[in-house]
Amino acid sequence: MLKNKTAVITGGARGIGKAISLKMAEQGANIALIYSGSEEAAREVCETINQMGVKAIAYRCNVAAHEQVKATCQAILADFGTVDILVNNAGITKDNLILRMSEQEFDDVLDVNLKGSFNMIQVLSKTIMRSPAGRIINIASVSGIIGNPGQANYSAAKAGLIGLTKTVAKELAPRKVTANVIAPGFIQTDMTENLPQSVKDYANTVVPLKRMGTPEEVANLAAFLASDQAAFITGEVIKVDGGMCM
Ligand code: NAI
Repeated sequence: MLKNKTAVITGGARGIGKAISLKMAEQGANIALIYSGSEEAAREVCETINQMGVKAIAYRCNVAAHEQVKATCQAILADFGTVDILVNNAGITKDNLILRMSEQEFDDVLDVNLKGSFNMIQVLSKTIMRSPAGRIINIASVSGIIGNPGQANYSAAKAGLIGLTKTVAKELAPRKVTANVIAPGFIQTDMTENLPQSVKDYANTVVPLKRMGTPEEVANLAAFLASDQAAFITGEVIKVDGGMCM
């Protein structure tokens, strides 16, 4: 249970981030939801959470912009008083083969997936250290573990996120804060909806469990890692991929 805890979830208005927001709220956490896209979608998620009897507020913020992150986190602290759990879920892809990948495509993906997570952790870690059970959960990808053709930028960013998480886990361990990575495989969201049918068919052949995962299946692990039951797990990378990368 996450009663009386406050969770900040980036990219919390849709896909995996939305599922994590709803799951943590269901377990009693108050939710500060960071979004960059549709305001309406963010408001709808907050309304659903409010109906569960916990607090939820949405903040528009580009996690890649350090000053915006600072201002947003100040607003979150003014509204909630404290932060116990940070979930760095915001992510983008700009796929291209390495020979064709532009510098901009590389930078954009690194900026959101890796630097965005750094920005959030740096600004919030002082507050999270004050929590009796601080938690940082970073959403990477199996691409960051095994690589993936067409995703030099994305797999580099997600591999970087794994290194960042392990350092943060070591630096914050003396304050009882844990930091872990969830590495999803193929999960059914808007991000994978746009993939060509051939890639989706391929996904089903390489996944031993013969299907894509659901955002809720990633959220279940995030909620567990955020709970007191996971207090002795830190610096781990846990895949939710139907056995694809074992
Ligand atoms: P999605 O595209 O549905 O959601 C991503 C969210 O991040 C959106 O709400 C978007 O507004 C937000 N976002 C993007 N750029 C942002 C920025 N600069 N500042 C703040 N928010 C920003 O994607 P999905 O599938 O829900 O992915 C969530 C996370 O899971 C991502 O980090 C992704 O890389 C990772 N992942 C997803 C997989 C999948 O199969 N769907 C597989 C492996 C990892």
